[in-house]
Amino acid sequence: MTDKEDTKVFFGSKLMPQKDMEDSVNSVFNSVAKNYDLMNNLMSFGMHKLWKSKAVDFLSLNQVKDDGLIIDIASGTCDLGQIIKSREKGRLNLICSDINLNMLTLGRNKMIDKGLILSTVFSCFDVLNIPLSDNSVDRVITAFGLRNFSDKSKALSEIFRILCPGGKCVILEFSRINERKFSKIYEMYSKNIIPLLGEIVASDKKSYEYLISSIENHPDQDSVVMLMEKTGFFRSNFYNIFSGLITIHWGYKT
Ligand SMILES: C[S@@+](CC[C@H](N)C(=O)[O-])C[C@H]1O[C@@H](n2cnc3c(N)ncnc32)[C@H](O)[C@@H]1O
Repeated sequence: MTDKEDTKVFFGSKLMPQKDMEDSVNSVFNSVAKNYDLMNNLMSFGMHKLWKSKAVDFLSLNQVKDDGLIIDIASGTCDLGQIIKSREKGRLNLICSDINLNMLTLGRNKMIDKGLILSTVFSCFDVLNIPLSDNSVDRVITAFGLRNFSDKSKALSEIFRILCPGGKCVILEFSRINERKFSKIYEMYSKNIIPLLGEIVASDKKSYEYLISSIENHPDQDSVVMLMEKTGFFRSNFYNIFSGLITIHWGYKT
């Protein structure tokens, strides 16, 4: 048996071999790809773009030297790429990457349509095995990717490996709500409305049930900070949006 068959990980709330989890995540994103942007707009009332924009603020792009390299991991349909490129106007190089070619192709087409591909490369790869050399990237960002990675420690150590000394990693993800009333409202919304929206709009209730259970099973803010520190990141910290429903994490490489 290979390591990936031996190791059991959660796919949402289901424990399964790591390889099966990776295949299941891939089939979820193959299934949701064509309605992904529409569903994000509906589910978040359009707010996901503001959260992504805030995460890009945390990259401090103005502090990156000219010709520096930024990488968006798990780019999906490249919302972050669009925000980054529309802000820095060709001064920096960008790699948009994802393991899922369907998601990445949709993102690439969007960026081509908007004329935002100057110094941009699109690359299909697994965060667990990033095809870039050590110390080669100035900034890494990933939005709503971490909870889908079958090995979060390995993903973070790959990100750490490619970052230059002084480089920064920013992670946008769902997290733990610290306000009881809001938590109850969100629970009702996520358990009842989101799968229903998935069924009506995308004819795909199951994938949206996975997305919700993957949020429930994702480690909380402090656990992600601990994982980042264990990987080697320093000055790791987080910023909560909506009482922790959404969190921006960051950490530096010395
Ligand atoms: C929820 S989407 C987020 C997309 C985009 N970043 C956004 O915020 O809209 C998660 C993305 O993670 C990608 N993903 C999952 N596992 C991955 C892995 N091992 N390596 C790279 N990307 C992965 C999926 O293909 C999917 O496009």
